[in-house]
Amino acid sequence: MSELLKDKSIIITGGSTGIGRATALRCAAEGAALLIADVNDEQGAATVAEICAAGGRAQYVHTDVTVTAEVRHMIAVARDVYGRLDGAFNNAGIEGNFTSIVKMTEDEYDRTVNVDLKGVWLCVKYQIEAFLEQGAGGSIVSTASVAGLVGTRGGSAYCAAKHGVVGLTKSTALEVARKNIRVNAVCPGIIETPMLERMRSETNVTHASLIAQEPMERLGQAREIGEAVVWLLSDLASFVTGTAMPVDGGYTAL
Ligand code: NAI
Repeated sequence: MSELLKDKSIIITGGSTGIGRATALRCAAEGAALLIADVNDEQGAATVAEICAAGGRAQYVHTDVTVTAEVRHMIAVARDVYGRLDGAFNNAGIEGNFTSIVKMTEDEYDRTVNVDLKGVWLCVKYQIEAFLEQGAGGSIVSTASVAGLVGTRGGSAYCAAKHGVVGLTKSTALEVARKNIRVNAVCPGIIETPMLERMRSETNVTHASLIAQEPMERLGQAREIGEAVVWLLSDLASFVTGTAMPVDGGYTAL
């Protein structure tokens, strides 16, 4: 077991499945003490059990990231259980409904932006508050997307939310740079997760057409996002803040 995140207390939202789960496994292997926060309690418990069985440290707390009281509770639990908060991976998100702006309803827009942007904003807001109270710095990584850097047809709500995460990341990074608090985002390309599987089964998008969008001619794996997140959360990235790092197999280089 290497020790890049040794004894760091880290929250991972959306850690029950997909990118969050794979990142949790990587962080635990690097010595982090984790709080997994999600609305999928069954899968969250399974992630925690897998980490603990491998000798890592993790607990689970039910948290809907769109609810202020639940976000504040999540942060309080991390500080209670581990004595402080050192970092967070704000990754919970939904794909929303990919359809033309003309067909998209206001309710669908609100639902997507509420989880994918306001949910991240609430987490960042109260995590920074905790870091400032503790006075010892901290590192935040939020999951944006390549859809936070370029447009996607049918993604008027999702892309708006993900571009919002990039703006939120840059602005808050500047606000707290002098306090040794780093705020970054990762921008995954097309990654094989339950979310992608849902999108594939609900639309007529084929595996071949997804691969055709990726210069490396393959889909990304959730673990490959986890590798970047471990680095951004760790002290190795001590001079990195305000970035939106593509981990996309070259998707945005096209
Ligand atoms: P996923 O569906 O496997 O994981 C999302 C997790 O977030 C689930 O565990 C879900 O229960 C949780 N979640 C949803 N709403 C929540 C809420 N209100 N409060 C707390 N937890 C909530 O999907 P995936 O692919 O792992 O997505 C993770 C992040 O990566 C999302 O922000 C997504 O937008 C982003 N992303 C995914 C890409 C992909 O190709 N899979 C590409 C770029 C970004």
